[in-house]
Amino acid sequence: TQADALYRPTIHYSPERGFMNDPNGLIHDGTVYHLYYQYDPFAPYAGRVHWGHATSTDLLGWEDQPIALSETPEGEAFTGCAVLDAQNTSSLFPSGKGGLVALYTRATPKKQTQFLAISDDQGKSFKDIAHNPVLDIGSNSFRDPKVIFHKPTGQWVMVVAKARLHQIAFYASTDLQHWTHTSDFGPSGLFGVDYECPNLIEIPIEGGGSRWVLFISVNPGAPTGGSTTQYFVGTFDGSRFTPDDTVIGLTDFAKDAYALQCYENMPGNEAVSIAWLGNWQYCQELPTQSWRGCMTLPRLMTLRHDSAGWLRLAQAPRGLEALREAPIPFACPKLAAGASASVPLPLGTALELTLSVTVDQMTPDLPLGDKGRTGRFVIVFGNDLSENLTIGFDAFSGQLWIDRGDLNGFKQPFFTGQFSTALNPDDRNFDVRIVLDACTLEVFANGGLSVGTALLFPANPLSFLKLEATGAGATIETLSFYRLKKVMP
Ligand code: FRU
Repeated sequence: TQADALYRPTIHYSPERGFMNDPNGLIHDGTVYHLYYQYDPFAPYAGRVHWGHATSTDLLGWEDQPIALSETPEGEAFTGCAVLDAQNTSSLFPSGKGGLVALYTRATPKKQTQFLAISDDQGKSFKDIAHNPVLDIGSNSFRDPKVIFHKPTGQWVMVVAKARLHQIAFYASTDLQHWTHTSDFGPSGLFGVDYECPNLIEIPIEGGGSRWVLFISVNPGAPTGGSTTQYFVGTFDGSRFTPDDTVIGLTDFAKDAYALQCYENMPGNEAVSIAWLGNWQYCQELPTQSWRGCMTLPRLMTLRHDSAGWLRLAQAPRGLEALREAPIPFACPKLAAGASASVPLPLGTALELTLSVTVDQMTPDLPLGDKGRTGRFVIVFGNDLSENLTIGFDAFSGQLWIDRGDLNGFKQPFFTGQFSTALNPDDRNFDVRIVLDACTLEVFANGGLSVGTALLFPANPLSFLKLEATGAGATIETLSFYRLKKVMP
């Protein structure tokens, strides 16, 4: 259909047909990056789950590969991970040379157990070993293993969700086949209904040092509705994760980044993640027919001290600069209160807009106007049919918002329109990096401390960009605007 083509991202991975949700088995194997994913190849609905597969040399352009793991009589192939068993610690590689190992959940309505499969063709396909499952606690809500190698203790560590108990279980192993339970974490932060897709990773602190971060996806039960990913910053001793404090962070202030998974074996030890750009509340009703589901851009993760001194997750699109084409000329230095400037948008291309803006001092002793005291800077991607996507900053309260409610291509009760986040209080300056690509929007504000990810379905192409100052004037300190090179078919 027309929607299938109109909403197809050009720099984000989406399957050619069928239904996609969580990223799985994210790993760099020494040569290429693998992206496996939860996939029903037969229908645009979550159904008979296989592992779809794509590979990349830069994490941006992806080449489709054949299905790597299939549904079998033992169940669907639910979410899991891949590790590089380079030393053949598993003794499963007859050549003794080692290779890629997948650990994942086989799921039937009655049972969820952890399976191990090995690849002898560089990750093109995985074969279940004979003595599966490798982990079975007699539960039907035990899933999504993520395994890392913990260098200080010289062992493999698995985090896996006891979903309905709202707990993450920790296991250790020296051979990837025999697993010893070491601790449980949670419930903590949000209850929701299910804890899913845990991830444990050491993330560098900007300026030096590092901390362990535990990511837990929660569905449903997000503050914004449906699916969300929470994270905890703390320490990990090989057996137990101890959070620094009782605070939870959310990776996103909008609602379309779920089931975040971290890359294994990243060159240079970078902390990089990809999330599913969707939400279980409406993912099976989206306006495309032949395909549904896409992934976020790969994101480089760091920890940064916020203004109060707490460590928070910062995210930035990784390597996106390489896709920049000639800048779109748009000079817009100073806007008086009520003034705006606009520029037409090139069609059919992903766009990157980076802005840093200072809103003028508001005069507190002036009588309030009809609209109260405001000083807002508003970024609108719109068209002549009154469809507007708005990203705005309210300088009076230091908050940023996204409004997709004036787009007309998809309406559904849970597909809510507005999301907001608190930036720095008492700060009239804000910075934002916006990536717009067909049905996807990613907003990185405050140097990546506040990230908003949202699906978008304008009924008609967005054809102009307008910047507007309302209530107070504004100075645009820096502005860059690029088309991004199409890297997906
Ligand atoms: C998360 C999830 C996982 C499960 C998979 C099934 O979105 O529900 O818990 O393994 O999707 O596709």
